[in-house]
Amino acid sequence: MTHEAGWAHAPGALRGPSWLREPGDVNDLVPHLWSQTAHKVDGELHVGGLAVPDLVANVNTPAYVLDEADFRARARAFRDAFAAYDVFYAGKAFLCTAVARWIQEEGLCLDVCSAGELTVALRAGVDPARIGYHGNNKTLSELRRAVAAGIGRIVVDSFDEIERLESITGDGATARVMIRVTAGVEAHTHEYIATAHEDQKFGLSITNGQAFEAVRRVLAAPGIELLGLHSHIGSQIFDSAGFEVAARRVLALQARVSDELGVTLPEMDLGGGFGIAYTTQDDPADPAQLATEMSKIVEHECRALGIPEPRLSIEPGRAIVGPAMCTVYTVGTVKPVQLDGGAVRTYVSVDGGMSDNIRTALYDADYSCTLASRASDAPPVLARVVGKHCEAGDIVVKDEFLPGDVRPGDLLAVPGTGAYCRSMASNYNHALRPPVVAVRDGVARVVVRRETEDDLLATDMGDL
Ligand code: LLP
Repeated sequence: MTHEAGWAHAPGALRGPSWLREPGDVNDLVPHLWSQTAHKVDGELHVGGLAVPDLVANVNTPAYVLDEADFRARARAFRDAFAAYDVFYAGKAFLCTAVARWIQEEGLCLDVCSAGELTVALRAGVDPARIGYHGNNKTLSELRRAVAAGIGRIVVDSFDEIERLESITGDGATARVMIRVTAGVEAHTHEYIATAHEDQKFGLSITNGQAFEAVRRVLAAPGIELLGLHSHIGSQIFDSAGFEVAARRVLALQARVSDELGVTLPEMDLGGGFGIAYTTQDDPADPAQLATEMSKIVEHECRALGIPEPRLSIEPGRAIVGPAMCTVYTVGTVKPVQLDGGAVRTYVSVDGGMSDNIRTALYDADYSCTLASRASDAPPVLARVVGKHCEAGDIVVKDEFLPGDVRPGDLLAVPGTGAYCRSMASNYNHALRPPVVAVRDGVARVVVRRETEDDLLATDMGDL
């Protein structure tokens, strides 16, 4: 492959979206997209005190690299900033037994949203009283198990679920619940990850009276203890305005419950959804700033309504694990593709793709990446990093400047892949899901191993 020096600046060259950083600094990391220990030494990416090329020489690629110190620091930052709250880490973002233990060690609680996640949490030894259980369609047997395990709070999402809980409580068995309400907020995020507008499956509507009716019904159930109301407006949200509107509406319901039913609900949950930086265009708030803003909103509203402030909780997932992980791939093929108008886009195919990161295809998400195995002074080209799956939409990074001599065998690393990448990974095309390697102080530990072909065949019952 030949590279025309400086073509990226030539007339007709592709420039990418306006937020894409200038190609001049293509070897440098943009620090706020990476975990805290990530840096480059002579072009090689180092994380957790280890050179990534050495690390993947042992575990192969693709691999998720999890910076343990960064994860713990982000968990602690939330716990400290929200010291008066309970902080539940949303395990759906990424969960394995090691992470569940870190969460417990750092003093956070844990949210699960399925029987599988509950199994991981219990296997890790998480105190059931510090677990919250979500889901819009929990089965009777799942609820039975949660009640029997003494789960700290079950977040109820429908009248059917209340009925199921009524059928398994009483006679000594009790359930502690919150009611998930829909605050009618249009969160400014992708439609598929917005959850507080009316026309979607989660929660019980405040507007149409279902939320109040659910409160009345739960309060009347002898075996169910109502802790409070729960609202989650969506994910990858940067603006506190949505939380403000939600808090105001949920607290108005809280006041109505107090007035009409004579009950002061002791707790309230404002959900998760705090955004992170995937590219230079994102500018997230830090936990301290979020805590200040959210506390002020709740304090102000409670004073205005003349009700006591409930004990608050939040449920960050992405904001704790997202920036703590990066994915390392090996480049397999490089293909310059001439577009209408003459510009060239360089397609760089890596050894993973939509099976380890579905977010680009599913939410049109933006990511960035860097060459992780060497420095290069080749003039930058605007590249698109794609996977190896049989699908044109199998894109990992839509636009990034990479050195023009990017070639097979190079390592590429994509930051910000801790949340909803391994947890949404699939076996599409019978891909083997990559390992998660935790790194800390120069030591690497595989906390989730790579799948094997035997794993794939384990559920294939043959031609019987
Ligand atoms: N609490 C509840 C009730 C939730 O449903 C969620 C996420 C969270 C907390 C955590 O939200 P986070 O802080 O991680 O944004 N797969 C999508 C995100 C789906 C979020 C589902 N619920 C994505 O990749 O963007």
